[in-house]
Amino acid sequence: METQRLASDTLGIARAAEILSGGGLVAFATETVYGLGADARNGKAVAKVYAAKGRPSFNPLIVHVHDIEMAQRFGTFDDQTLALARRFWPGPLSIVVPLASDHGLSSLVTAGLDTVALRVPAHPGARALLAQFDGPVAAPSANPSGRISPTTPEHVMSGLQGKIDAVLDGGTCAVGLESTIVGGTPLALLRQGGVPEEEITKVTGPLAHAGPDITAPGQLASHYAPQATLRLNATSVRQGEVALGFGPAPCDLNLSPTGDLTEAAANLFAHLHTLDAMNKPIAVLPIPDTGLGAAINDRLERAAAPR
Ligand code: TXA
Ligand code: MG
Repeated sequence: METQRLASDTLGIARAAEILSGGGLVAFATETVYGLGADARNGKAVAKVYAAKGRPSFNPLIVHVHDIEMAQRFGTFDDQTLALARRFWPGPLSIVVPLASDHGLSSLVTAGLDTVALRVPAHPGARALLAQFDGPVAAPSANPSGRISPTTPEHVMSGLQGKIDAVLDGGTCAVGLESTIVGGTPLALLRQGGVPEEEITKVTGPLAHAGPDITAPGQLASHYAPQATLRLNATSVRQGEVALGFGPAPCDLNLSPTGDLTEAAANLFAHLHTLDAMNKPIAVLPIPDTGLGAAINDRLERAAAPR
């Protein structure tokens, strides 16, 4: 299969929507990371997503929709989840809610659960695609399973070229880490991500935290693994290591020389890709654990997990 690279113009969007309608796979930019999209009602198309990614198991996928009204065709919202949707959509928050009756989604999307993760992305290219397709798009991050999430069309191509129909070029992702995921009763934080927990609790009050009883099945320990080994909270760089820095300290690549966590999040996966290609162990200098820093450190801990 040859993977087409489509521009995010009228023609490219139309072609991408046509591929989705025909059961094909299109990688597209969201504000978080590139997603690998398939029609969420078409089980064969969804299966191709798992195949292209080489997923070790059928984890449930996030379903992307154009707006709250469309979300309500697939999931049942209560006062709390509706308030979150109104506050943060379009944006980097995924909300897990009970499936609506007659939802029509493939069970492969939900991995057989009676809940669904829904998200309304903010990226204009994603919004144009969802408007044109006018249906639910299941999309995990557009990378081979267990590898770093893609934030540019080049990252997508380097992992999935020849395995998917097209990539819709939407430039570099602005947020650079995946969406925050909340869900369950009582409402719990299932994954840290683009919306800091502090912003969510302003709407909901304190959240439960995922533990042995509440699982986000995609939270595999080594989910974000580069090939290279990572040493976290390094206070000095050892011989033979390359250094990923934050703030003014000297290093090989810096997430944000000025110590801006939003900039650091946007650079995280791209810098990991670059350092990974150098085939040396990576020393990661300390990153504050506040705001988006918590999600950055969560990703780094997963990338560093033994495997
Ligand atoms: O930013 C993002 O969220 C990106 C872009 C493309 O939207 N997508 C993404 O998808 O990160 P993925 O498949 O890599 O991660 C989906 C996460 C997994 O941890 C999965 O287990 C969780 O969502 N999830 C999906 N449905 C769920 C459900 N019903 N209950 C609990 N967790 C669910
Ligand atoms: Mg992923």
